[in-house]
Amino acid sequence: MIEFRSGLRESDAEAVARIVTRTGVFSAEEIEIARSLVEETRAGLPGADYRFLFVDGAAGLDAYTCFGPIPGTQNRYELYWIAVDPAARRRGLGQALIEETERAVRALRGTHLFAHTSTRDDYIPARAFYVAHGYVQHADIPDYYSDGDGMAIYGKRL
Ligand SMILES: CC(C)(COP(=O)(O)OP(=O)(O)OC[C@H]1O[C@@H](n2cnc3c(N)ncnc32)[C@H](O)[C@@H]1OP(=O)(O)O)[C@@H](O)C(=O)NCCC(=O)NCCS
Repeated sequence: MIEFRSGLRESDAEAVARIVTRTGVFSAEEIEIARSLVEETRAGLPGADYRFLFVDGAAGLDAYTCFGPIPGTQNRYELYWIAVDPAARRRGLGQALIEETERAVRALRGTHLFAHTSTRDDYIPARAFYVAHGYVQHADIPDYYSDGDGMAIYGKRL
């Protein structure tokens, strides 16, 4: 039985930076963005509308998602981050977490969930994961992040 937590704790900024670092796929700048989304949300900064779901483990976070409404759209949500600690992968945790995240988005009247990800080889697990959960690839923008590193956009009608 997996327990999900949506309330933020003071330790979460560090915990998020740690798990995102441990995935091994994100740049230093991306890790700082992941951390700052937690800090901004905890600080209650105006304009920040990020929601979180955490799965706590014995040695810190086992997994988390960060998602929120896409400004200017009708009930469309973005999955900004999903990360499962490397030690906890391939055991269905990511699946349980994305399903819980989709439930949370539906409860907020969200009708679609989108995710942007890299086309690099080290994101093969992420892209396979999205496809396995019913996400359709809508776009592939070459060289978006940097030369040779494109962006794939996935979406799902909930
Ligand atoms: C993508 C990620 C969240 C998946 O988490 P996970 O807990 O390992 O996923 P699950 O165990 O629930 O896997 C569910 C299904 O996704 C697919 N999948 C997951 N990892 C995969 C991999 N490495 N290769 C191929 N398919 C994979 C499979 O269909 C899998 O089902 P199966 O194990 O029965 O074959 C995890 O690999 C991760 O944190 N990656 C680094 C961060 C990242 O890239 N995030 C997304 C971009 S923001």
